[in-house]
Amino acid sequence: MRHDGRWWTEAVVYQVHVRSFADSDGDGVGDLAGVRSRLGYLELLGVDAIALSAVDPSPGLDQGYDVTDPREVDPLLGTLDDLDGLIADAHAHGLRVIVDVVPNHTSDQHEWFRAAVSSAPGSPERARYHFHPGRGERGERPPNNWQSVSGGPAWTRCTVTDEDGTRRPDEWYLHLFGPGQPDLNWENPEVWAELEKTLRFWCDRGVDGLRIDVAHGMAKAAGLPDDRRQPGWTPVSDALVDPRFDQDAVHDVHRMIRAVLDHYPDRMAVGEVGPVRDDARWACYVRRDELHLAVHPALREAAFDAAQVRTAVDRTLDAATSVGAPAVWTLANHDLVRPATRYGGEERDGAPGPARARAMALVALALPGAAFVYQGDELGLPDATPPDATPPDATPPEATPPDARRDPAREQSEHADRGRDGARVPLPWEGGAPGYGFTTGTPWLPVPEEYGALTAADQLEDPDSTLSLFRYALELRRGHPAFHGDQVEWFGAPAGCLAFRRTGSTLVCALNAGDRAVPLPPGDVLLTSGPLTECGELPPDTAAWLA
Ligand code: NOJ
Repeated sequence: MRHDGRWWTEAVVYQVHVRSFADSDGDGVGDLAGVRSRLGYLELLGVDAIALSAVDPSPGLDQGYDVTDPREVDPLLGTLDDLDGLIADAHAHGLRVIVDVVPNHTSDQHEWFRAAVSSAPGSPERARYHFHPGRGERGERPPNNWQSVSGGPAWTRCTVTDEDGTRRPDEWYLHLFGPGQPDLNWENPEVWAELEKTLRFWCDRGVDGLRIDVAHGMAKAAGLPDDRRQPGWTPVSDALVDPRFDQDAVHDVHRMIRAVLDHYPDRMAVGEVGPVRDDARWACYVRRDELHLAVHPALREAAFDAAQVRTAVDRTLDAATSVGAPAVWTLANHDLVRPATRYGGEERDGAPGPARARAMALVALALPGAAFVYQGDELGLPDATPPDATPPDATPPEATPPDARRDPAREQSEHADRGRDGARVPLPWEGGAPGYGFTTGTPWLPVPEEYGALTAADQLEDPDSTLSLFRYALELRRGHPAFHGDQVEWFGAPAGCLAFRRTGSTLVCALNAGDRAVPLPPGDVLLTSGPLTECGELPPDTAAWLA
């Protein structure tokens, strides 16, 4: 851990999806007291910080990313007192705490939005959001052709009830995510003042950092022009910009966020900027007066392929260093298919995904910068997308609850998207079904039987488990003198493999993503993600650290 206050530059941050981490009261949903009760585990794991996914009150249409009050805690998860207790205890365990802030949109149940819907067009209440009349003779077509992120139009039409009780269609409102998540209007100073208040609220409560949700959102193209990349338009060049996201004006918001945080010692903001594809534009988010860290999408989008991983590392490091920012390495979060499945895990037995995920974890943890580990990846959990609704005429098998899926993204995409439930299934702590030590009740998403062989309790006892690998890796990363140097130098490597050294240091990381064993680079082996071959070579789907 650094001692100059910039603790985040090399921190390992563990992302806690609170609803799925640990349940303290038996209602089947994880909560803050549950997180508090498991801080010892996180200390043992060896991370530096925890990042809590959205904990504000919310109808839960998007797992807390539809917020009704940005300065409160959802009663399902606990109270502000619980959060204060969690922060204090985390600090006592040497862990920093990051909370999520959602400035792009609110819930449609937020008091601002309810007031807007019941106010007249053109009112100050509506001016906090994007309300517009529709196109067409009777306003029957949305104001523009924008699509929401999860699929379907980004506009929903309101209805008003007249004094005589008749309902008639009214203006449309913009929601770049689900219809329950109306976008705020960032041209309205009230919206700025509200975020400023929220930032101060959490900093005053003692959090060490803030994750800024949809950090490339907020500002929209002036005049809300049609999206020329949508079907029906003929793209004239690949450079057509997305009018919904990554507008220049968003950087004023980040400068405001930074200015607020700069008043508090040792606080940081990390932005979810994944969808920004252009590296030069991505880098703008981590300029010196904007966010401290931002997540670059390249590594988590790279397949298990040496060339793709190398390109992802170079792109991320080049983009971050072009503006003097530390890189952030992450393979997963609560929105993505878990690495153990993503790298080739659909057919369960003998699938290479789990070994590859272990190997990629060593790659990510060897790189210069901060690293984010998503809960459960340290256990090597496979993605666990719950079963579809059982057809009404079929008898459901006992272990297959009908329609266990929860993520509305799947419905909104008309099932084109498998939904994000698979990465959000509760953690198996110990014991067996149905609660696996996560809850004494019934988990809010069913925990698959295969998680029973991957409990934290069992893995803590097993020196060859994925959990033990993470513990060794984090201990080395924290204590071994070779872990320094803020760039990488690539070595020549056999086909399908890669090897890099941290500049100015002796730490070498080698990855075999090919199909035959290869000799290791010179050096003493510190750690490998799986056994070496009998003659000491690095087998396929394996990584090694040497010094
Ligand atoms: C990104 C969050 O990670 C995701 O879960 C959420 O649905 C969207 N932002 C919208 O808030």
